[in-house]
Amino acid sequence: MPLLTIKNSGKTIEAETGKSLLSSLMSAGEPILHKCDAKAECGSCHIFVVEGRKTLSKAQRPENERLDSIVGVSSNSRLACQALMGTENITVELLA
Ligand code: FES
Repeated sequence: MPLLTIKNSGKTIEAETGKSLLSSLMSAGEPILHKCDAKAECGSCHIFVVEGRKTLSKAQRPENERLDSIVGVSSNSRLACQALMGTENITVELLA
C-alpha cells in the first residue's frame, strides 16, 4: 500500500489506493475539517500536496470550481475529499 505522510506531524500512514485522502486522514485520527461531508461544497478539507501530486486522481470540475473560490490556494492545492489515492507515496500539509 502507498504511504501518506503528513508534513505537519511527520506521521506516515498507509493509504489505500482509490480511497480519498480525507478518508485516510480521518482513519488515522488527523484533525481535518469536512463540513459538507465530502461533497466538494465547503472547501474546509483544503490541503496542500507537497510531494507526489501526480499519483492522485485528477481534479474534476466541482473540485476546481470550489478551489477557485478559496483564498490562499496554490498549484499544490487539493480538496482531500475529492483527491483519490494513487499507487505512489505522497506528502501533504494540513491547513487546519
Ligand atoms: S469536505 Fe467539503 S469540500 Fe471536502
